[in-house]
Amino acid sequence: MVPTVAVLRGDGIGPEVIEAALSVLGACAPVRVKEALIGGAAIEAAGDPLPAETLALCRESQAVLLGAVGGPRWENGPVRPEAGLLRLRQGLGVYANLRPARYMGLPTPLRDGLVRQANLLVVRDLAGGLYFGEPRGNDGKTAINTMHQTAEGTARVAHVAFREARTRRCHVTSVDKANVLEASQLWRATVEEVAKSYPDVTLEHRYVDAMSFEMLQAPQRFDVILAENLFGDILSDEAAAVVGSIGLLPSASLGEGTPLFEPVHGSAPTLAGRGIANPTGAILSVAMLLEHGLKRPDLARLVEEAVASALREARTPDIGGSATTLEVTALVHRHLGWLRDSGSAPEGSVMSYEWGV
Ligand code: NAD
Ligand code: IPM
Ligand code: MN
Repeated sequence: MVPTVAVLRGDGIGPEVIEAALSVLGACAPVRVKEALIGGAAIEAAGDPLPAETLALCRESQAVLLGAVGGPRWENGPVRPEAGLLRLRQGLGVYANLRPARYMGLPTPLRDGLVRQANLLVVRDLAGGLYFGEPRGNDGKTAINTMHQTAEGTARVAHVAFREARTRRCHVTSVDKANVLEASQLWRATVEEVAKSYPDVTLEHRYVDAMSFEMLQAPQRFDVILAENLFGDILSDEAAAVVGSIGLLPSASLGEGTPLFEPVHGSAPTLAGRGIANPTGAILSVAMLLEHGLKRPDLARLVEEAVASALREARTPDIGGSATTLEVTALVHRHLGWLRDSGSAPEGSVMSYEWGV
């Protein structure tokens, strides 16, 4: 049966990078694409950043591919586009957010010698921490958010981190603020407990403030970085400095229901409509979708290879080039075609797909 992929383009540069990513998906595997609204676009059309039909479509699909949500237009409204994304993650029961960041030979703000060996995987708890804890609110005089961490919620994301580490360099750095926060003390104790089931994986702990420094001082020291929701959000954007641009980073959110794939970046409002957004994060999210959603790691490797080759020839302005979104995407297609012709691609996998500039 042809798998259904729910596609939620969202706001700002979301539609542009998803157009590019979808074309790559279409060139790799037969999928049925069904589109739905989320974020600001859904507020405009339906008054709700996550309409019921969007969540229903995502739940019955094999994978969700999402662009980005948010923008200045909705910043002071009664409901924010970002709430739609958070409700989607909750509604799908996805709790482990994988955010790989590997040096790609591109210009970065850091010295070459420092980042050359960098290959990080942030595993972020998407379900706990400060994002959903009660009580919360703002009465104009006092505002409250609650950092809510359960042992069960921590253990399940920690297991994902340790399993991922086994496929890499067998090293986990758990990030917390256990010198101050009770939620972090439970986090640390739980991660220690989970680590006992993985004697082949080494575990170390870092306070989040020290980690923010050390990740840039010696990024090659780290392998899997396991972090609470907000800490993981911040550290994964910081990891972009190791690779060169936030526009390069993909993510996969895995858990109980349909897996969700989205670039790490946001809607980049100032770039929207200019045709120069970096499509790499979205295209590499398609690679993660092929691997984790459609169980085709062979095709995922092919897309990664095509992207790496394309970036050797053309770069969008965020990584120091002058290429457009379309030009980079067309190059990815050209390299996919060459990989197919050279026999590196699995038989019959890469369909011919016309996507012109
Ligand atoms: P952002 O990631 O949109 O942009 C940060 C910086 O990176 C900007 O300079 C932007 O121009 C640049 N950038 C981002 N993506 C790029 C790309 N693909 N190519 C080239 N440059 C790129 O973060 P922000 O400015 O803090 O947030 C803007 C809006 O996006 C906000 O409404 C925020 O809430 C939302 N947001 C959404 C998501 C999501 O949907 N997953 C993630 C982060 C932020
Ligand atoms: C991300 C974003 C989201 C988050 C926002 C837009 C809700 O920053 O996906 O990294 O904080 O998780
Ligand atoms: Mn973020």
